[in-house]
Amino acid sequence: METKADKINRLKKEKNAIILAHYYQEAEIQDVADFLGDSLALAQAAKKTDADIIVFAGVHFMAETAKILNPTKIVLLPDLNAGCSLADNTPADKFKQWIDEHPNHTVISYINCSTEVKAMSDIICTSSNAEKIVNSLPKDEKILFAPDKYLGKHVMKKTGRELVLWDGSCEVHTVFSELELINLMNKYPNAEVLAHPECPENILAYADFIGSTSGIIKRSVESDSKEFIILTEPGIIHQLEKKTEGKIFYTVPNLDGCSCNNCPYMKLNTLDKIISALENLEPQIHIEENLRLKALKSIERMLELS
Ligand code: 13P
Ligand code: SF4
Repeated sequence: METKADKINRLKKEKNAIILAHYYQEAEIQDVADFLGDSLALAQAAKKTDADIIVFAGVHFMAETAKILNPTKIVLLPDLNAGCSLADNTPADKFKQWIDEHPNHTVISYINCSTEVKAMSDIICTSSNAEKIVNSLPKDEKILFAPDKYLGKHVMKKTGRELVLWDGSCEVHTVFSELELINLMNKYPNAEVLAHPECPENILAYADFIGSTSGIIKRSVESDSKEFIILTEPGIIHQLEKKTEGKIFYTVPNLDGCSCNNCPYMKLNTLDKIISALENLEPQIHIEENLRLKALKSIERMLELS
């Protein structure tokens, strides 16, 4: 009998489609993906592909980025409600007002934002290149950084530069319990603490390594440590376990005391929704051409610098 995964693989072949998936997807989705990556790697893969159809197993801003880079391809997001708290809390009108209040500033926006916000930005960055993008600008350049204030603060610390920050944060990375983290560190004193820069400073203060999802995976593979405490969305554990043999990963409980820091938006995608998207070629991402061209400029500037 044809399994759901078999069906997806058959449909991909028949339609010349690929699945790009983020590490926060369910394990079964990661296993049918043609390419897995962090936001930067996914954008780079979207730019390179010669498939006719891209199914984005991730969230809305990621699929929008793929469409901005591939206007003639069909880009499918299996569930259009797969948003992102960072992107959704950065409305275009408020963002414009903020930019107008800060003339003569270069605007760097984290890729977790809408196409409208990208179109008003000078350069896009991701968690894996934010430091490099900031450092690519002259030392005396005034910079606005949006929408993640914790990534912004981390970059300020790493670069020693002053950034004007938008007051935004990720609803998943801001709920790790510091107390539970300390308890885990006491219980597993040899474990390395690996954190995503979307975590607040009080949590990042304990990290041995801070990086993007790809960075966290690379560090786990290369490190001599056998145990790790992971401060990011738990979907990543599937790849961590696949890529490292015999290493152990601990997730940190959130403020409610459960180890359930799932991103509710990432987890909206399912195998059934992917099958439906491939069969019906819906739901598609559509972007108005003038807006797309403006957003493209800021993304291309990032890709050139990466
Ligand atoms: P990465 O680019 O590190 O994969 O992060 C994406 C994201 O949404 C983190 O919450
Ligand atoms: Fe957005 Fe946070 Fe989910 Fe990442 S984990 S997609 S930043 S809500």
